[in-house]
Amino acid sequence: MYKVVKDGFIQDCKNELKTYIEIGSKTTNDEWVLKQTASLDEYKDHASHIPHNIKVLYDLFDGYIAKAIGGKKDINILDIGCGIRSEWPHYARTIKEYQTLTNNVYIGLDPLPINTDGREYPLIVGRLEDVKNQLISSFDVFIFSTSLDHFENISDAMNAVKKIANPNSILIIWSGLHDPALVAEQAGADNFRKLYTSLNPIIFIFRFTKTIISILFNYARLLKRRLYLLKNKSLDKFHFHYFTERSIHAEMKAFGVVESYLQIPGTNSVFMVVRLKS
Ligand SMILES: C[S@@+](CC[C@H](N)C(=O)[O-])C[C@H]1O[C@@H](n2cnc3c(N)ncnc32)[C@H](O)[C@@H]1O
Repeated sequence: MYKVVKDGFIQDCKNELKTYIEIGSKTTNDEWVLKQTASLDEYKDHASHIPHNIKVLYDLFDGYIAKAIGGKKDINILDIGCGIRSEWPHYARTIKEYQTLTNNVYIGLDPLPINTDGREYPLIVGRLEDVKNQLISSFDVFIFSTSLDHFENISDAMNAVKKIANPNSILIIWSGLHDPALVAEQAGADNFRKLYTSLNPIIFIFRFTKTIISILFNYARLLKRRLYLLKNKSLDKFHFHYFTERSIHAEMKAFGVVESYLQIPGTNSVFMVVRLKS
C-alpha cells in the first residue's frame, strides 16, 4: 500500500520515494480495451499539438478549478484520466504554480503506460476502479477533465471515488455534451467565423452557399444523432457515454450536490462542481 506525498508515493514500511507507481488492472473488460485502443491516436495527436480551441478551454478550466479549490491548503487532489503528456496538464497549471504556497498534493491517474518515466508530476498508472486496493491515502478533490464519458459504468466509477474520498470532497468535471442545440452551437460558431473572415462579395457568396449546404447536412446529422441518443446507441467508437444537459445532471445528482454548472457559450462543453454525498 502507498501513501501519497507532494513528490510521489511512499510504500508501507519503506522509505523509498517513487515518482510513479503501476497498480495493474484487475477490472478491465474487452469493450473498454477496444475504446482505449481506438482513442489512442487522438490522445497522441493532442499530446503533441493542442488545437487552439481546446487550449482556450483548458485555460478556462484551469481558472474554474482554481476557483473551486479556492484558497484550500494541505489537500490531496486526484486527476482521474490525466492523459499521457509528460508535462503538467494545461488545466492544472494554477495548482502547480501555487503548490509551494498551498502544500497541496496533486496526483495524476491514467491507465495508459505512456511517458511514465519523464512525468513532471506524480502518476499512478492504472484504472480508478483499482486504486482503492493500493492506496492508504484519500483525496479532497477529484478532477475529471473530459474523462467521465470514458468510464463504462458511472456508478462503479463514483463508488470507486467514494472509497478514496475524504468527507466533504468535490468532483470538478469538464465534459462534452450532446444536446443537438449545443453541438449545433459549436459547429455554427466555427461556420460563422469562417463565413465572415473575408468581406469580398464573391468569396462571401461562395462561402454563404457552402454554409447553407452545411446547415442542411448538419440538420440530417443531428437528426441521426438524436435518434441514436434516444435508442442509447454509440455515437462513436471512443466513448461509453454521450451526456446531455439533462442526463449529466441526473447522473451527478445521484452521487452528490451540483454546486456549480457552467455551460461554455459557443461550445458543447460544460464545467461542473459536485459535492459528494457521504
Ligand atoms: C479524453 S482523455 C483526457 C485526458 C486529459 N484529462 C485532458 O483533458 O487532456 C480521457 C482519459 O481517461 C483515461 N481513462 C479511461 N478509462 C479510465 C479509467 N477506468 N480510470 C482512469 N482513467 C481512465 C484515458 O486513458 C484517457 O487518458
